[in-house]
Amino acid sequence: MIPDKAPREDVLYAAGDLKKEAHVPSFEKYKELYIKSIDNPDEFWGDIAKDFYWKTKHTGQFLDYNFDVTKGEIFVKCMEGATTNICYNVLDRNVHEKKLGDKVAFYWEGNEPGDESTVTYRELLQQVCRLANVLKSQGVKKGDRVSIYMPMVVELVVAMLACVRIGAVHSIVFAGFSAESLCERILDSQCCLLITADGFYRGDKLINLKVIADEALHKCRDKGYLVQRCIMLRHLSKVEEAEVTPLGSQSPPAKRPCPDLQQDPQRDRVKKTRPVPQVPWNPKVDLCWHGLVCVASEECEPEWCDSEDPLFILYTSGSTGKPKGVLHTVSGYMLYVATTFKLVFDYQPSDVYWCTADIGWITGHSYITYGPLANGATSVLFEGLPTYPDVSRMWEIVDKYSVTKFYTAPTAIRLLMKYGSEPVTRCKRTSLKVLGTVGEPINPEAWQWYYTVVGEKRCPVVDTFWQTETGGHVLTPLPAATPMKPGSATFPFFGVVPAILNESGEELEGPSEGYLVFKQPWPGVMRTVYGNHQRFETTYFKKFPGYYVTGDGCRRDKDGYYWITGRIDDMLNVSGHLLSTAEVESALVEHEAVAEAAVVGRPHPVKGESLYCFVSLRDGVTYNRSLEAQLRKQVREKIGAIATPDYIQNAPGLPKTRSGKIMRRVLRKIANNERDLGDVSTLADPSVIEQLFENRSCSDV
Ligand code: WTA
Repeated sequence: MIPDKAPREDVLYAAGDLKKEAHVPSFEKYKELYIKSIDNPDEFWGDIAKDFYWKTKHTGQFLDYNFDVTKGEIFVKCMEGATTNICYNVLDRNVHEKKLGDKVAFYWEGNEPGDESTVTYRELLQQVCRLANVLKSQGVKKGDRVSIYMPMVVELVVAMLACVRIGAVHSIVFAGFSAESLCERILDSQCCLLITADGFYRGDKLINLKVIADEALHKCRDKGYLVQRCIMLRHLSKVEEAEVTPLGSQSPPAKRPCPDLQQDPQRDRVKKTRPVPQVPWNPKVDLCWHGLVCVASEECEPEWCDSEDPLFILYTSGSTGKPKGVLHTVSGYMLYVATTFKLVFDYQPSDVYWCTADIGWITGHSYITYGPLANGATSVLFEGLPTYPDVSRMWEIVDKYSVTKFYTAPTAIRLLMKYGSEPVTRCKRTSLKVLGTVGEPINPEAWQWYYTVVGEKRCPVVDTFWQTETGGHVLTPLPAATPMKPGSATFPFFGVVPAILNESGEELEGPSEGYLVFKQPWPGVMRTVYGNHQRFETTYFKKFPGYYVTGDGCRRDKDGYYWITGRIDDMLNVSGHLLSTAEVESALVEHEAVAEAAVVGRPHPVKGESLYCFVSLRDGVTYNRSLEAQLRKQVREKIGAIATPDYIQNAPGLPKTRSGKIMRRVLRKIANNERDLGDVSTLADPSVIEQLFENRSCSDV
């Protein structure tokens, strides 16, 4: 399945220096370890587990599972019998056993240049213990769910780990979601407590987070569900005095000086030159973060949890509309994210690592919080935007902290590509060693720009394919071991066994294209949909019994490399030919005039479906008929006449979620001139919609 030798042609190799120190320095070593991970998982993962702290050791086999719905209930159990605590492993173990107490855990870089702070492992442990004690004093117990709705601040990590320390289950809701979405998630997970903040800035825009959180709590109340407590962090407004009113008091919150806040390293991080949010206060439920933590103890014995106890819930959108609460559990997730982080970014103790994702998404959970902290890494935690105050911001931060490993999304790369190379080359970037991408297929043109302009061909690019459901990377290069092919996520990570199936569920061998599935679990795979195990089985296991179905299409080339072609629901069938929208998009983006493209299907009376293409042009280029003709030719030349676009439309902006995913569902409606767009609450910028309707390129057939 994996070739014995890496191909030599049409591939790019990592620079020599990286190989010298790398954990997995060659393709042969990768293959050797891969075989061990499949043939002898107990030994492979057992060795890794030795580095972690276990209150009690596991008994029996490392993984026990059923992946076949026809044989009974789907389940995965990892390290049964073991007890541990992730918070202990990522903090206490680093501070006490590994003597990393003074090491910086996070460099926090605010939205506004100049807003900054640092937190060491020891300080993080103290803050976490204090908040954990606060949660306990507010009645939160092991197994209870806590919703977290916060901006990208260190206290978001503190809140996650405080939950984990006491065995409570966090459910983080991305701070860009609406009150309605927050309410829906609170109701589904039946959270007893919400942790939020006063507000934050995204670029120039003030987001009154507490106002939105209150609206969500009202909606919950209207539906008969009462969230008993809401802890609010003052991020933008003054924290010198903290509200210490007991709950239930009708008077406005009493303030009292909080001496410990004078020592709070986070205290002066935001320069108070901008308007601060007005904070609505409901004395029946609201509590002040600082008022509580400044009187809480720094000692908190962790709650020892079973391997398969729930760790967190994270909601991900489902094809039926209602989000699914993906549930991860303790031991398997911990080992898997720690190992993928270490090997995929080839983590070394001197690294400064930066993942630009938001912690509100799985990438932030696994590769800002748990993976890096489990390795004792130093990370940058960035609150702001890649284009604020200007488009050099990312590279300025890379230089400021001498970032060595950098992880971002293709959409960010394409956005920055629009502005050319000067904003990048203006900064030095000499510290960079490994570049990563995640979230969607990266078109070879963006890959090349990232590799050539950002990394100056020195840094391998790891194109990591994975999902909220998979917990961590499942198909990915290892930077010093895997020869790269631009646009391919290359090979499986350790313990992962992919296959490609056709529509009838038959496994395809050799070069082929079809459904990407996995044949057996790895430690980090999700365990269930919270509160709805049946939905878990139906969504992922029913279509092809015996396999976990990713929902993504995939091609395997002659060298065994895997190429994700996009969601299967983004596959189009034009005149009986299966086409990947990502493939057509990539062809369009290769034209020098195009910055970004999104392709959807439009029903066609003869062909079944036709290709409707939305294109965003680079700055300074104007849209006209001749360009349209060139684009058609381009796609025909790159893929074939079958892929010739039927419609091309100028799209100055594309509808995206706040995490940058293009909302193809909305584009399909626009292509069809259907005004009923359904739920668009996750749309980052609703104003693009009207313009897209105005620019529609065709009259209705
Ligand atoms: C897509 C994000 C191609 C894919 C970690 C997957 C990718 C979905 C890649 C999961 C990649 C993620 N190449 N496609 N490297 N990474 N995807 O749950 O369609 O937000 O199913 O997890 O993103 O998105 P999610």
